[in-house]
Parts: sequence; C-alpha cells; structure tokens
Amino acid sequence: MSESGNSGTSILLPGARVSVFTKDGETIETVRALAEDWRFARVVLKTHEGDVNDAIALYGTEISPDLVIVQTEEIDDAFAQRLETLGGRCAEGTGAIVIGPVNDVYLYRRLISMGVNDYLVRPVKPLIFGEVIAKSLIEKMGASGSRLIAVTGAKGGVGTSLLAQSLACGVADQLHQKTLLLDAAGSWSTIGVGLGFEATTTLAEALKVGAAADEQRLSRMLFASGDRLSVLASGGDVMLEHNASPDQIEKLLNVFMVKFPVIVFDLSQAPIPVRRSILARAHKVLLVSTPTLPSLRLARTLLLEIKELRGGSAEGTDLILNMQGFAPTAEATKSDIESALDCKPAAALPFNPKLFAGLESQGKKFTDDKAGAEIARMLVALVQKLIGAESDESSASEKHKHASGMGGLFNILKSK
Ligand SMILES: Nc1ncnc2c1ncn2[C@@H]1O[C@H](COP(=O)(O)OP(=O)(O)OP(=O)(O)O)[C@@H](O)[C@H]1O
Ligand SMILES: [Mg+2]
Repeated sequence: MSESGNSGTSILLPGARVSVFTKDGETIETVRALAEDWRFARVVLKTHEGDVNDAIALYGTEISPDLVIVQTEEIDDAFAQRLETLGGRCAEGTGAIVIGPVNDVYLYRRLISMGVNDYLVRPVKPLIFGEVIAKSLIEKMGASGSRLIAVTGAKGGVGTSLLAQSLACGVADQLHQKTLLLDAAGSWSTIGVGLGFEATTTLAEALKVGAAADEQRLSRMLFASGDRLSVLASGGDVMLEHNASPDQIEKLLNVFMVKFPVIVFDLSQAPIPVRRSILARAHKVLLVSTPTLPSLRLARTLLLEIKELRGGSAEGTDLILNMQGFAPTAEATKSDIESALDCKPAAALPFNPKLFAGLESQGKKFTDDKAGAEIARMLVALVQKLIGAESDESSASEKHKHASGMGGLFNILKSK
C-alpha cells in the first residue's frame, strides 16, 4: 500500500498506455487531473467505467496496454480468480495496480506475491496515484529522454531562427507536444521579437542556474507562448560579451530534457563549440540554406562536417531550402542542388516576405496564421516520425527488455 509521495519520479514519463477500470467518480476525477500533469505528457490515460470483468472482456479481443489499473469493492478469492483470468488475457509484461476498499497488510502481501505492482486504498490521493503509476511505468520501461532537434544555418540570415520558431510552434500546437525553444545567442537572440516577449533574464544567469541544476528557478525563467510552447526568456546579456560553453549548455539541457518531450534548439548565433556539441548529439538536425550559390557552397561543406561529427552518418540530417523564389535567376535548380550536395532537400519553403516579416514584426506565432501554419506543418512533417515513432520504438524495446525480467502480474500468473 503506497503512502509515500516521494518525488523521485518527478521526471517526464516514457510514452505508455494506461487503462483504469473503475466506477468510482472520485477515481475518475483523479485520472482526469493526472492527464494534466506534465510528467504524463506522453502517457495515454484511458478510463473505462467498469471493473475487473470488463477488463477481462476487453482484453479478450484487444491488446492490453502497458499498465492496467482495476478498482474493486470486493477483495476475496473470487476477485483473485478474476485477476488470474485477466492475467491470462493480457500481454506479457503488462503491469497491474489494484485499488480496493480496505487497508489490509496481508491482502497487500498476497496481491504483491501474485505480481501486482501495487495496492492502493480508495479514495486515492492524486499525488500518491501519480507517484505509483510513475514508479510502475519507470520500473517497466525505464526513464526515457526527450527529443532534441537542432536547427542551424549554412550562413547568417538564411531564416534559421524563424524556421526554428515555426517548427517549435508546430510541434506544440499541431503535434500537441510540450515543447521548449532554446538558443545560445544571448542578446543576439531574435526569438523575443518573433514571439512577442521581453527578455526577463540573461543567458549568463540561466547558465549559472542550470549549472546549479535549480529546476524551479529555471522554470521561472521561461516564457509561456500558449499552452505547450515555452521559451527561455533570456537575452538581456551584454552583446559583445556573449560566451556560452558547450558544458554550460549541456547542464541546462540536463535540466530541461526531463521536463520537455521536445526541445528545438536554434543554433544561429550560437558560439561555434556549442553548435558542434549540439549538432553531434541532436536526434535530428535541420540545416537551412537559401538556393543561392554562396549559401549552397557552405551547406555542402557543413553537411560533410555534420556527417563526420555524427559518426559518419547522414541519417537524421535534413537540408531545408528557404526563400525559394527570392532571386530566381541566381538560384540553383533542384537537380543541380541534389547532384552538387549529394543530398535531396527535405523541404523547400517559398520566399514570402509579407508572411515572415509580418509575423516577426507583430510577434505573432506561425500557428496563429493560416499561411504560417502551413509552413509549420511542412517543418513538422520532417520531425513527426522522430517524435512519434521513435518514442514508440524505444518504449517497445524497453518493454521487451523488462518483460522478461520484471515478472509482472501476468507473467507470474502465466507461469503457474
Ligand atoms: N521564407 C522567407 N521568406 C521571406 N523572408 C524570410 C523567409 N525566411 C526568413 N525570412 C526573413 O529573413 C530574415 C532573417 O531571418 P532569421 O532571423 O530567421 O535568420 P537567421 O538565419 O536566424 O539569421 P542570423 O544569422 O542573424 O541568426 C528575417 O527578417 C525573416 O523575416
Ligand atoms: Mg538567428
């Protein structure tokens, strides 16, 4: 019977499916509240108004989720038998939590010996419920990190910052992922203008707080742009003294990567050593170039260097052509670009000064504008697989890893 509200599980939980079978209005309300908890951003919580019999019936025809929670009013031999039947219907490694009416240590021990992850007494306090589910999921799947997407430019002024903003808005508003937009540009940053906020701190201060791993103070340095997009509201630094190191940025990321499923890093104006370290470790790199010769020439060299940094693999690096149509007679054709760079551009975005300069000067989000949302959608398409599919894959492989060793309820019952 878990009573502790320990905060050891205050991290972003891995992508998982959890189903709760209950007829208790209070429990239903608690589940609803948990869905709003940031730790559960990637957990699909489903409530079924029913009991163990409904779970048995459902998993006779449907694949069971990662964790099944069953609330019961009767804890007797018949219930234990039904749990056993349920175990037979569920996939190997499925976790189980039982919510019951009585606080009974012998019953608790019996259920645990059957392989139940935990037993809770109703009414379940949201804090404890959250902790117990988190603990079960982490035991089962391991804690999984977030996705870091680096956006970098072949040269200055090619639109790196605005495309990073557009992508971050798209991931937050179109993929509904809690997202953080970061840069290491200090007061050279233009994100505040683009998203309409004033810097409330300096990058130097944020790096200091990051080095101390002070999560709460860092959270207060964030600007919320809508429900799911946050931005580090730094930028009040002295322009000519800006100097972030890879190590400092790494410490900042260590704090943020357990809170945000997706981090978009705008590398334009970042010191070169920071670009190097982020390009090496990002899950995805978007390299922005215009279709004109000076930019393409740098893009070609940069693509080779990025490949080398990433262990000789070009996988996960996409070239984006921006401002297509800006100078039609001076622009290389798509096929010329493909053969010269040995890389097929993943997206080509039109030159649209009215849209870009308009949104930027009004401090308006791309996703709040019809044409802007289209640009965001094109960029989101490049990372959607990474955000969705990879988390599924990693949870699937973690699942496999733990399924054999964990001995969840249903493994134990099956091996009887
Ligand atoms: N597709 C586009 N169509 C029209 N204008 C664009 C487009 N993309 C970017 N711009 C404009 O280009 C300018 C530079 O954009 P941005 O600041 O994003 O570039 P950057 O590569 O980050 O620059 P820096 O190297 O200074 O950091 C902005 O004024 C922006 O409005
Ligand atoms: Mg920029």
